[in-house]
Amino acid sequence: MSLLNDHVVLVTGGGSGLGLGVARHCLAEGAQLAVMELSAAKVAALREEFGADVLVLQGDVTSLADLRACREAVLERHGRLNALIGTQGIFDGNVPIAEMAEDRLYALFDEVLSVNVKGYLLSARVFGEALQASGGAMVFTTSTAAYAADGGGAAYSASKGAIRSLVNQLAFEFAPHVRVNAVAPAGIANSQLSGPHALGLSAQKQSDIPTDAFLSMFRSLSLLQELPTPEDHGPLYAFLASRQNRIMTGQTVVADQGLLNRAVLTRGD
Ligand SMILES: NC(=O)c1ccc[n+]([C@@H]2O[C@H](COP(=O)([O-])OP(=O)(O)OC[C@H]3O[C@@H](n4cnc5c(N)ncnc54)[C@H](O)[C@@H]3O)[C@@H](O)[C@H]2O)c1
Repeated sequence: MSLLNDHVVLVTGGGSGLGLGVARHCLAEGAQLAVMELSAAKVAALREEFGADVLVLQGDVTSLADLRACREAVLERHGRLNALIGTQGIFDGNVPIAEMAEDRLYALFDEVLSVNVKGYLLSARVFGEALQASGGAMVFTTSTAAYAADGGGAAYSASKGAIRSLVNQLAFEFAPHVRVNAVAPAGIANSQLSGPHALGLSAQKQSDIPTDAFLSMFRSLSLLQELPTPEDHGPLYAFLASRQNRIMTGQTVVADQGLLNRAVLTRGD
């Protein structure tokens, strides 16, 4: 039996990178899948890849109207929702705040925190009732930036720390019906994570970093020494989204290839 048979799963921000890999894995595990994505080009590619089997919706997770339209479409097609997997996010360019024009901070904060935190908060509100009705799960995406410095700049790190705290509170508020957890990845291969408009960095993508350079940096830092693909994260997300998880709520799973646990003194590269 597949892990997600009889599960209706919605992946938000599933147009590329982590979310796309997780969406593919959920489908392979038998889920009835819906994906919500901001980028029109990625929406077209998703429709091309998945065809009529998957409900693909264009929408912005920071828009209550878009989230409500998504809820309507999912419930109309499937009649229920068993798991909300949130993977959307944007980067802050890792620019030290002292090097930034003071007046840029307003826009940077609003942009990064809006997608990376408000999007999750609004999604939890909009889909919470359906998940309570099904005894479902929320699985959100934070980062090792929530635990240690230099995984991003101040705005990105603050946003990821906020998601970590958000799942604590949401798990409390939605108990006992909905399990709420998060995953904190470190580096991810094939990511298109983009920078903020506020600093003129929206065209900058993680995929612009030469693969070899990114891989060798990651290998030198992580214990398992492989840069995970989005699909590698699939089984963890699928488990947390499934009814098989009867024991965890309010937790963030650090899925970092041992990055934060590396030996500082004795291990070379
Ligand atoms: N790339 C990494 O190394 C890394 C490490 C740790 C955590 N993460 C986190 O993983 C998650 C996925 O990132 P990724 O690396 O796969 O990047 P990605 O850019 O490939 O995927 C993010 C997706 O979210 C979509 N999106 C952005 N804003 C949106 C909005 N307002 N509404 C709907 N969709 C929106 C993007 O268009 C994109 O398709 C993010 O939360 C990111 O912070 C990434």
